[in-house]
Amino acid sequence: MKRVVILISGRGSNMEALVGAREAGELPVDIVAVISNKADAGGLATAQAHGIATAVVAHKEFATREDFDAALQAKIDGYQPDLVVLAGFLRVLTTAFVEHYAGRMINIHPSLLPAFPGLHTHERAIEAGCKLHGATVHFVTPELDHGPIIVQAAVPVLPGDTPDDLAARVLKQEHVIYARAVRWFAANQLRVKKGVVTVELPDAQQLVVAQ
Ligand code: GRF
Repeated sequence: MKRVVILISGRGSNMEALVGAREAGELPVDIVAVISNKADAGGLATAQAHGIATAVVAHKEFATREDFDAALQAKIDGYQPDLVVLAGFLRVLTTAFVEHYAGRMINIHPSLLPAFPGLHTHERAIEAGCKLHGATVHFVTPELDHGPIIVQAAVPVLPGDTPDDLAARVLKQEHVIYARAVRWFAANQLRVKKGVVTVELPDAQQLVVAQ
């Protein structure tokens, strides 16, 4: 079974969705640890309540980004993960760190990338008059919120939506697609060629998709 470490900075609802999928028997992975850069991240208590090991590597205790990333890397590697899952982990990562986990670190971003990398995505989508918005799971590369796209979900932007309304609609879909992406990774179904991801589905699933 593939070993997964999840990194969070806050409430951890995506992490909780992954833990829930695993507990429901829908995600055959071993979630070996949840690590936060903030000691007060709400998701840490959630993870502990599910019996998952937690750790904190506080970025504030390090003088440089390089020092923090090195300490974080050492902590992560102590759990020997096959996959590192960024789930609302609000830190810009150094190239060395990202390259260490090349092909085995994924992120979820609340927009239909390559539109709206960075922060305040829901507000920006409303201001741009988008009729569709959504979320993207992608492999992490050194450029922020770029990297090969594994799966996306789109939702409508409705008249009168506030950023919070839209965020809530998107978040529901995040919880669905993140588990799906991790399941594909765990089953070795993801192929990346020239920056494009394809999913190799077993024959039975191909049939369902084709119908
Ligand atoms: C999500 O919207 C995710 O897409 C973004 O940060 C938010 C984290 O939410 N990267 P949660 O901590 O998983 O609830």
